[in-house]
Order: sequence, then structure tokens, then C-alpha cells
Amino acid sequence: MAIVTDNPLLVGIDVGTTKVCALVGETDEVGELRILGAGVEPARGMRKGVVVNVEDAATCIAAAVEKAQRSAGYEIGAAFVSLAGSHIASVNSRGVSGIGGGGHGIDQDDIERALDAAQAIAIPHGREVLHVIPRAFAVDGQDGIRQPLGMHGFRLEVEAHIITAASTFVQNLTKCVEAAGVTVEAFVLNPLASGEVVLTETEKEMGAVVCDIGGGTTDLAIFLDGNVWHTMCLSVGGNHLTSDIAQGLRLPADSAEHVKVDYGHAYSREVANTESFMVQPFGEDRPVQVSRLDLATIIEARVEEMFSLVLQEVKRTGYDGLLPAGVVLTGGTSQLPGLRRVASEVLNLPCRVAAPNSLKGMVDKLQGPAFSTSVGLLRWAQNESLALPRGGSSKRRGGRGGGRGRGPNLGKGLDIFRRLLP
Ligand SMILES: Nc1ncnc2c1ncn2[C@@H]1O[C@H](COP(=O)(O)OP(=O)(O)OP(=O)(O)O)[C@@H](O)[C@H]1O
Ligand SMILES: [Mg+2]
Repeated sequence: MAIVTDNPLLVGIDVGTTKVCALVGETDEVGELRILGAGVEPARGMRKGVVVNVEDAATCIAAAVEKAQRSAGYEIGAAFVSLAGSHIASVNSRGVSGIGGGGHGIDQDDIERALDAAQAIAIPHGREVLHVIPRAFAVDGQDGIRQPLGMHGFRLEVEAHIITAASTFVQNLTKCVEAAGVTVEAFVLNPLASGEVVLTETEKEMGAVVCDIGGGTTDLAIFLDGNVWHTMCLSVGGNHLTSDIAQGLRLPADSAEHVKVDYGHAYSREVANTESFMVQPFGEDRPVQVSRLDLATIIEARVEEMFSLVLQEVKRTGYDGLLPAGVVLTGGTSQLPGLRRVASEVLNLPCRVAAPNSLKGMVDKLQGPAFSTSVGLLRWAQNESLALPRGGSSKRRGGRGGGRGRGPNLGKGLDIFRRLLP
């Protein structure tokens, strides 16, 4: 039976280092996001946020997509896909355009020309533009303008945040997603997708940094004055904690992972030295007792190092004094007890842990902070007002037609710009 609704179907695929999560959703009658289907699959062929084995990554993306299709009852044609990794770079740049005649003031064309000019920075060979995000405008030298549309003047300046990615990494991920029969509608940088879900409007206005700590990456985005001011992707994450535990306690990786999740703590001062647990290390005939405090000491050292890196990055941007709303931690690793305190102490900022909330629909397994990027992709799709009729982005399972037949919109950035306009 065909579903009678004009709501566009929203599809996101979060290709993480530890899991792939494909989500299908829609905007309901009251404008809220409703999840229609979800497919989560342990990731393979990924390392530190990038594809290292195309075949393995393609297989698990296809499996996640298949599960999402089955649970939603729709075939996925195109999707917004997350992107991260240390190959991501960002730069702030200015662009200028003359304001067109016609007496109607600044129009969309003028803004797009200014953004094009900002984008005309030298992009090194082998890199492509992922996002062009306007941070602020100036009209005839008057700066601090958030929404220049309709204003009169002669000269429009834009200050833009430009995010670029290494083409080869983008191509590899595109290949994997396409092998699953899905067209990449657009790539969205991980922390931008997460920011959609975990930050309040007030935090974005006041100044806050999103810190999404997953398995292989720590992704950062600084929001200020309601806009994205800076983004960074670091190649450290929860997997480093697991391998430290594996080394420190001489355990196989899967046992170390269980130990971390079941007994891990990032703030040793909160752990009583009477607590202990049993593990079976290499070279031992029977399980041995390990103090939880020893485990916390191993974890704490690495977590402090991770947040020192975050601090260094934030300081490098020069916005470290402009973040009164502090740090919002998310991603699977943010569930580690004590992490918030370490973050707060090292960064000397207020800190909270956040996850997608007030979701509607099939939400059972999407409540945790590991799903912020995944849900964020749907919010991104929603905000982009894809406005695809059913059968555009995706089709009723068993129906006709495929995706939009469009490649990734790298270098486009203007839809995103429209969406991000304050
Ligand atoms: N309760 C927990 N305590 C500590 N760590 C946890 C817990 N639950 C999950 N993790 C860790 O979270 C990480 C996975 O997080 P997430 O699902 O956000 O990563 P990802 O999106 O697959 O990877 P990335 O974004 O880095 O590419 C793993 O390292 C896992 O061990
Ligand atoms: Mg992730």
C-alpha cells in the first residue's frame, strides 16, 4: 500500500570506526523528527575514521543499510553520510562581492558570489571542499551582520569557515556507500552532525565546543554566535583506551574492551582501592584479580592526554577564552564514568555529556551518545529541506526508481550555507 504523505524521507549513514548506523526518518506533522528504521552493524574495514579496506567496509555498510531498509520498509536510494579523519582540514577565509543592482538590496546571488570568492582560496592538490560555512557578514565595512539578505549597500564581505577533505579518502568512502546501492547525497563532517543533536541554541550562541569521542576519532566543532567557527578531527578515541588496557593487563582486545566498558573509570580519585574484578591474562592458567584503581590509572593517563590534545587544538584556534558554555561531550566513549570530570579539569571549562533525546519513532537503540552523529545526519537532512518526494531520496521497498543519481555535493556547500544562515 502506498503511503500518502508529502513528507520527505530522510536518510543518514554514520560510518564510524566501530559501528555503521543507517537511519531512515521523516519530519512528522508537527515538524519533529521521527525515526522510521535503523540498522546498526559493527564496523569493519575502518581505522581512525577512514576506510582501510573497501571490501570489508562496503559489506558492513550494505548490511546496515539492509537492516535499516527492512525495519523502515523503504528502499534507500540516497543518504547523507558522515565523514571524519585526520585528513580533514579547515581554514577561515574572507570573500567579497559587489552588491547587484536592482534596488532590492542583497540577494541570494550576492551572498553566493561572496562565498565563492571565500572558497577561491588555494586548495592544495588532491583536496576538495566539503563545507563552506558563513560565520559573519559585513556590508560596506559594517561588520557583525548575521543576515544580510535584503540589506542595501555596495560591498558584501563574508567570513567563512571552509572545511576540506583529502579526495582519495572521500572517493574510498563514496565507493563503499555506492557498493551498497546508495548514492551519497552529501557528506557531513561528524562533529557538525553531532552538534545538530547535542547543542542547545543558547550554547551555540554563548560559545561551546562539541567533543565527539568515538572509537577511532575525537571530533571537535566550536560554535560561537550561533554559528560554526572552527572544526577539527583528531585520530584518538576509545580504541586507544582499549589497547592501553590490553597492553597494561596483557589481555586480548575483546576482553580489554569488556573490562573497559564494565569496570572502566577515567577519574582514579573517584575509585575505591577496595574494588576489583577478575580477568584471564595471556600466560596465566586461571583468572587473576585486578584492582579497579589500577585500571582507572591506565585509562586516566590516556584520557588526560586526549584532552590535552583537545586543549591544544582549542587554544590554537584562539577561541579558548570565548567558550562560556563549555564542552559538550558525546560519542560512545563519553559514557566512560569520570570522563566528564577529567575533561572539565584539563580543559578548565564546564562540561556535560549529551545524547540524542526526545526522539520519536524507532528509538530504542538510538538513545545513547554513540548515536549523536547518526541522528545528527537526519537533522541535517531535515534542515537542508531536501524536500524529496517519497521515491526521491528513497523509495518504497519493491517500488521503482532509485536515488537522485547525483554524486556527492563536495564543493557545493551552498545548500549548507542556506541552512546555516542565522
Ligand atoms: N560504557 C562505555 N564506557 C566506555 N567506553 C564505551 C562505552 N560504550 C562504548 N564505549 C566505547 O565507545 C567507542 C565507540 O563509540 P562510537 O560508537 O561513538 O564510535 P564510532 O562512531 O564507531 O567511531 P568514530 O566516530 O571514532 O569513527 C568504542 O571505543 C567503545 O569501546
Ligand atoms: Mg562516530
